[in-house]
Amino acid sequence: SLSGDVGGLRLENPLILAAGILGTTGASMRRVALAGAGAVVTKSVGLEPRNGHPGPTVVRLGVGLINAMGLPNPSYRAFQDEIDIAREGGVPVVASIFGSCPEEFAEIASALDVDGFELNLSCPHAGGYGMEIGCDPANVEEITRAVRRAVNVPVWVKLTPNVTDIRVLGIAAQRGGANAVVAINTLKAMAIDVESGYPILGNVIGGLSGPAIKPVALRCVYELSGVLEIPVIGVGGVSCWQDAVEMIMAGAAGVQIGTALMGGLEVIRDITSGIIRFLDRKGWSLEEIRGIARRR
Ligand code: DHB
Repeated sequence: SLSGDVGGLRLENPLILAAGILGTTGASMRRVALAGAGAVVTKSVGLEPRNGHPGPTVVRLGVGLINAMGLPNPSYRAFQDEIDIAREGGVPVVASIFGSCPEEFAEIASALDVDGFELNLSCPHAGGYGMEIGCDPANVEEITRAVRRAVNVPVWVKLTPNVTDIRVLGIAAQRGGANAVVAINTLKAMAIDVESGYPILGNVIGGLSGPAIKPVALRCVYELSGVLEIPVIGVGGVSCWQDAVEMIMAGAAGVQIGTALMGGLEVIRDITSGIIRFLDRKGWSLEEIRGIARRR
């Protein structure tokens, strides 16, 4: 069985819908839950409604995806209905939230009835939100503590990889009382159309996801789980069961999946059944392989 505790939530399996992709509506999250995810994370919501950046907002590359949506959302005030629909999928629903200061994060979290929170401290390109605050360990600690005091459900802190040493951010989240850290958010990236010479994204800079970032994400999970007491949830480019097993072997308690879902929701059950068959073949348990890369 793949069931167990992931960052304070009891999950049937450790494969979780990553924030952003398919987390905009209750109906899409319910679909991902029914397709076999152990939990779902919403698209980030904030204090006020936002339209997001002008387009194009997404570039598809062979190695992944660059997006600069600009944190579009209907405000947390209009999001409880979506969460309630998502919950019909029968798995825990985690609300991804963003804000500009600890009080704003706490206000949003206090207002939502949900199974957990994931603090988006890492959007790579929304001025005043995300990375700008998520790169400063003192901010990470303060925001985490404010939300931790405001709610009675698990608080996960999603970290940006766009720093020299991600372990410093993980330690800050842990000091603030996080139940888990989630690593990694997207890497800052861009693409240029050579015919016109123009940057493709309306916002020029966006966040890179997909297979290109998996080795970076794996390194971050390995580094974080080496220094933290709290669990690390791995995310970044996971596309097959081997990728998920690598994350767990690097120390991950859970694994999130986003960009790979663009190829169809079947990948969720392909990955969970692949992990089960692998463990059977090796005679290993999930607990036995967690962090095994450090012990070899
Ligand atoms: C957006 C937010 C993110 O956290 C991210 O990694 C990429 C894009 C956005 O809404 O623009």
